[in-house]
Amino acid sequence: MTLAPAVTGGSPCTLVIFGSTGNLSQIKLLPALYQLERGGHLADATRILGFGRRDWSDDEWRSEVRRMLAEQVTKPGQPIETDVTERLLARLHFIQGDLREASAFTRLAERLRAQDDLPANRVFYLAIAPEFYGEVADQLAAQGLAAETDGWVRLVVEKPFGYDLESAGILDRRLRRHFQEHQLYRIDHYLGKNTVQNVLVFRFANLLLEPLWNRNYIDHVQITHAESRGIGQRAGFYDGVGALRDMIQSHLLQLLTLVAMEPPPSLDAEALRDEKVKVLRSIRPIARQAVHAQAFRAQYRAGTGAGDGERWPGYLDEPGVDPRSSTETYAALKLYIDNWRWRNVPFYLRTGKRLAATQSLIAIRFRHPPQQLFQHTPIEQLQPNWLLLSIQPNECMRFELQVKEPGLEMRTQTERLDASTCTLGRDQIDAYQALILDVIAGDHSLFLRSDEVDHAWRVVDPVIKLWATEREFIHTYPAGSWGPGEANRLFDKDDQDWRNGLDH
Ligand code: BG6
Repeated sequence: MTLAPAVTGGSPCTLVIFGSTGNLSQIKLLPALYQLERGGHLADATRILGFGRRDWSDDEWRSEVRRMLAEQVTKPGQPIETDVTERLLARLHFIQGDLREASAFTRLAERLRAQDDLPANRVFYLAIAPEFYGEVADQLAAQGLAAETDGWVRLVVEKPFGYDLESAGILDRRLRRHFQEHQLYRIDHYLGKNTVQNVLVFRFANLLLEPLWNRNYIDHVQITHAESRGIGQRAGFYDGVGALRDMIQSHLLQLLTLVAMEPPPSLDAEALRDEKVKVLRSIRPIARQAVHAQAFRAQYRAGTGAGDGERWPGYLDEPGVDPRSSTETYAALKLYIDNWRWRNVPFYLRTGKRLAATQSLIAIRFRHPPQQLFQHTPIEQLQPNWLLLSIQPNECMRFELQVKEPGLEMRTQTERLDASTCTLGRDQIDAYQALILDVIAGDHSLFLRSDEVDHAWRVVDPVIKLWATEREFIHTYPAGSWGPGEANRLFDKDDQDWRNGLDH
C-alpha cells in the first residue's frame, strides 16, 4: 500500500543503483524490482543501471542477477517466474566504477546522456556505505547530474543519516548544496511496511478509538523490535554504531510518531510530516542526569537459541568485533511527549539482537477502570486491556478484553479480539516495493524530511553523548533471552512489565 493512489507503470525513468553488487541491493532492491516487474508496476521504458566496482559487462551483471534472484525470490511452493526474470533482466545495464574516482562519474554521465534507451528522469539510489553519501552527491553535481534540466532527478539515501546530531547536520547541508529538498528521498524502510501504515488507517479510519487515544485512558505504550539474529557479517557497520542509533533513532521513533501524532489535515506528504515533526519536537529532552533513568543498554554474551537450542557466540566473539567493544546490541528508552494528549504517558522503546524471538510489536496498555467494582469477588486482580499491533513476523491486531469465566463464581478471563486473519492469504508487499514505487511516483509521504531526521537525532543525542563517555562497563544478557532484567528499572510503576509477544 502506498499513501498515494496506486501507480501502475509510473513514469519511465533510469534507476541508477550505487552499490549494485552489495548486500542491500541483492537482498532487498533487486528482489523488490522483480516483484514490481511481476505486478506490472514498472513502465516499459524504465531501465536499471547498476554501478559497481566489478569489471562486468551488461550481460555478466544480468547472469549474476539471474542467479541471485533465483536464490532470493524462490520460496517453497513458489518458484521464480522465468518470464518475469527475463523481462527484468532486459532492463539491466552495468557500469564499472569506483566511487572515489571522478573519472567513473564522467563515464556515468556520458553513458546516461549517450545511451538512447535510458530515460532522462533519473533516480540515484545510494545503496552504499554512508561515508560515501556526500562524495557521491558532490560527484553527481560536478557532472551536472543533480540538475533537473531534461527530466526529474531524485536521490535516495538510506539510513543512517549521520552518526549523531552534528554529523547528520553536516551531511544534510552537503546533500542540499546540490539537491533540493523535493529531490531527496530519505528512506526509513519501516514506513514501507504494511502494518506500520496500518497504524494510520487503524487510528484515523475508526472513530471509536479516538476518544480513548490519550493520557486519560492509556497507561503506557511499548514499542519493541526484537531480533533473534545476531550481527552476522555486519561488524564493520555495527560495531561503534549500536542499537540506539541503528534502530531507535530511526525505525522505533518513526513508529512512535505514528502512534502519537495528531490527525493530519490531509494525507498530503507535507501535512503528514508536519504532524510527525510536532511529535518529535514535543518529546521531553532527556537531561544528562536523567539518562540512566530513561535509557538502558546491554550487549549479548554467549547463550543458547530459544528455538533449536543452538549455541550462539557472544557479541565480542563475532567476526570483526573489537574484543573490548562496549557497543550496545540492546537498547531501551523511556520517553515522554509533552503535549495535551500524552503528557506523562511513558513510551517505552526497546530493541535488541540475539533475543529470544524475532518480533516487532506495538503494545498499548490501557488504564484500570476507575472503580474497583469487583474487589469483593474472587477476582483478585483485573487484567488491564491491551491493544497489540504486531508488525512482524505476523501482521496482526489484537484487543485483549476481560470477560466473565463461565460458571457460578465471579471470575474473569482474558479474551482476544483477533484480526490476524485479515491479512492471511494476501500477497505480502515488501517495504522496498512500496518505497521504490513511491520514489518513481514522486510521493514523499513515507520518506523523512530533513527536520524530521534532525529532531529524531535531538531525542537520542544526550544518551549517545553520555554513553560515549562511559566505555568501561556494559551490562550483558545471554543470547537467546529476552534481554537483561535490569532494563525493568525504566518502568514508572511496579505493575508495568515488558510485553514480549502477542501471548505474554
Ligand atoms: C536495519 C538495521 O535498518 O533494520 C538492522 O540496520 C535491522 O540492524 C533491520 O536488522 C531490521 O529490519 P527488518 O525489516 O528486518 O525488521
